[in-house]
Amino acid sequence: MFYKLAQKVMFQMDPEIAHNIAIGSLKMTGNNPLNCFYRQNIKSAPVECMGITFPNPVGLAAGLDKDGESMDAFHAMGFGHIEVGTVTPRPQPGNDQPRLFRLKPAKGIINRMGFNNKGVDNLVRNLIAKKSDILVGVNIGKNRDTPVEQGKDDYLICMDKVYQHAAYIAVNISSPNTPGLRTLQYGELLDELLSAIKQKQTELAAKHNKYVPIALKIAPDLTTEEIRSIATSLKKNNFDAAIATNTTLSRDNVQGLKNAEETGGLSGKPLTELSTKVIKQLADYLDDAMPIIGVGGINSAKDAQDKFDAGSTMVQIYSGFIYQGPQLVKAIVDNCQIK
Ligand SMILES: Cc1cc2nc3c(=O)[nH]c(=O)nc-3n(C[C@H](O)[C@H](O)[C@H](O)COP(=O)(O)O)c2cc1C
Repeated sequence: MFYKLAQKVMFQMDPEIAHNIAIGSLKMTGNNPLNCFYRQNIKSAPVECMGITFPNPVGLAAGLDKDGESMDAFHAMGFGHIEVGTVTPRPQPGNDQPRLFRLKPAKGIINRMGFNNKGVDNLVRNLIAKKSDILVGVNIGKNRDTPVEQGKDDYLICMDKVYQHAAYIAVNISSPNTPGLRTLQYGELLDELLSAIKQKQTELAAKHNKYVPIALKIAPDLTTEEIRSIATSLKKNNFDAAIATNTTLSRDNVQGLKNAEETGGLSGKPLTELSTKVIKQLADYLDDAMPIIGVGGINSAKDAQDKFDAGSTMVQIYSGFIYQGPQLVKAIVDNCQIK
């Protein structure tokens, strides 16, 4: 009820201004009685994923709380985990505004934010200051001005800094808004990156006496052969999970709608089926070697169930959360059958 009202007001505003007001309000209220406006009691539905027991299988996808400013508020809403980031070694402003667009009739969003974030050191401070015990995955990326060939170094810098403070680390090579980033998804560049990250994980696990699982987040715009090759590389390098999927460059389902021609990644309902298809193919190739966290266009408990049925162990939401509110977390936990 409260969300529907808040959404009505927010949807009158520019999307990025609305976003900043929402994150600011959640930051101010996450730890005090004012969180009653969005606090929910979610039934316990523990799920084992990457060797961690999550209180329920619904997480907040990366990009909504990039700098980890409102983590405790998302805990109050009942999320089983939150993925913060994408964070880069150095702060960066991202692309020019406007860079965030609603496609209301399709319940979609197009964004070309370009990893706007306050840098990894700021995120670490926020992770240390977090009050609730919500499990936080940290999604890491490379700075825009780091050449792709040296991109690996940015991931390793971020890993070093966040390792002690993260429940898991997500390696993002699938954003369409950082030029060249997606080339890291293919062939030798991918293998080199995954192997360097695995080696770093082994070193850090010994140093901190703590094993932090690593997941790879992939795009939905991949051929069957590319998905097979990514699965092979993930298995070869003993990764702990795959997150599928990021936003799509396709506009197949939104032709003719206002904002459909904006450059960037499309998310929300128009992405639902494509992302489920990628999860299914990935699950076939991974053959239970590691879990999949399914994300992309989950707008109802039924959409989440399709993601579980396709082979996901957990799910994440972003656009569905914008269109449906925190109630979507409860609907999924209450209604989904997880194998
Ligand atoms: C405005 C916006 C910003 C995003 N930023 C990131 C990001 O920084 N890193 C990332 O891995 N994914 C990012 N994503 C992608 C989401 O995490 C998710 O993979 C995608 O939106 C599909 O899920 P959805 O359909 O539930 O939104 C972003 C999505 C949106 C809409």
